[in-house]
Amino acid sequence: MEDEEKLQAHLRAIIHRSGRTLALFLACFGVLRLPVWGGLTELGTPQSVLRISVVTLQLATYALMRTRFAERRPLIALAPGALLIMVVSGFEAGKLGDAQHPWIFLSFPSLCLTVVAPVGLGQRIFIVAFGLLGLLAGFLVPHPEYLALPMTRTMLGFAFVVGVMVTAVGHVTYRVTRQSFHQSLALERASTELSTLNATLETRVREQTSELRRLADHLESAREDERTRISHDLHDELGQELTALHLGLSLTRERFTRDPKSIEGNLADLTALLGRTRTTVRRIVTELRPRLIDDLGLQASVEWLIRETEQRSQLRCRLSASALEDLPGEVSADAFRIVQEALTNVVRHAEAKNVDVRLDVRGPGLEIEVADDGVGIRKNVGSTGVGLIGIRERASAHS
Ligand SMILES: Nc1ncnc2c1ncn2[C@@H]1O[C@H](COP(=O)(O)OP(=O)(O)O)[C@@H](O)[C@H]1O
Ligand SMILES: [Mg+2]
Repeated sequence: MEDEEKLQAHLRAIIHRSGRTLALFLACFGVLRLPVWGGLTELGTPQSVLRISVVTLQLATYALMRTRFAERRPLIALAPGALLIMVVSGFEAGKLGDAQHPWIFLSFPSLCLTVVAPVGLGQRIFIVAFGLLGLLAGFLVPHPEYLALPMTRTMLGFAFVVGVMVTAVGHVTYRVTRQSFHQSLALERASTELSTLNATLETRVREQTSELRRLADHLESAREDERTRISHDLHDELGQELTALHLGLSLTRERFTRDPKSIEGNLADLTALLGRTRTTVRRIVTELRPRLIDDLGLQASVEWLIRETEQRSQLRCRLSASALEDLPGEVSADAFRIVQEALTNVVRHAEAKNVDVRLDVRGPGLEIEVADDGVGIRKNVGSTGVGLIGIRERASAHS
């Protein structure tokens, strides 16, 4: 509807512009015609009065076409001038000769001007019919005797054929104009949409690039931290335990040389110390990489993660998981990391009491949900963290 209104406004502007030019052209033509065909020498004759009236009317039409009214109703403003031109053409042709002579026939093509009028079929038929009637009235009313001529019927038939042809061609032209207007509107709209999309895309790409840069920086420093932590773990825990083992062993060897029977207690201590060392090694290895997944599978690993989380916080965690056995290794590893980060976030930010973790295999995909009853993610809290970005990256790596 909005498009139709735009089209109508566009057509009105065309009619207004071309109608104004045409009125001016016809007025100038009329003025030039006055001296050329003896109008001035015959001043005062009915002939010259008629011509001067026509020129005056064309000038009036031109003046009318410059008004606001003509901008809104250009066809109505044009109508009297156009009709008069047709009547005068018919009248002048009638003076030059009857239906047996070619003059009236020669004036029929003037109807071709209506072809360019950008109006619908109803209005077009109306305009052509009125033009034709005006022409014939100008020709026949002053000379009713022409009606009795045998050529008059041919003339009327030919007028009808010209009218139909002009209407048909005009209508096709109008349809083409309409279509091209709608196409240009659609094109304009598509190009606006495209440039909006482009801008959105550019912003999105810029955002993602900066997110990825942050993630890369974070990974770099995380790797450094990890190395420092591992070296501390190895030095502080494993190193201490190995030193203790070494000391214990030396002590036991000394005792053994003195009193072999007395070392039984030492051996028990050493075994306990060895057990602790093995636990420490296993913990460090587990933290380095969730080998758990390779050994136990995703379900058991997540269960372990949940137990760990419950131990280091006041959270109560519930797990619901199904059919996780057949997932590929990389999917399981990433799923584990995602749940790990989400649970860390719950512990750090949520102030929650309960958290539900759900892992469901749906068709070819895996759905992960970690829902807590805490404060929720606050909007507009600027975060420099990369946990959520990491989650998104890991998830989109498998989408
Ligand atoms: N479960 C949660 N409850 C409340 N806020 C959360 C939760 N998870 C994440 N957030 C919010 O989202 C932000 C971004 O999280 P994240 O990207 O993991 O960064 P970080 O944990 O390093 O702050 C957090 O700073 C926090 O404000
Ligand atoms: Mg986080």
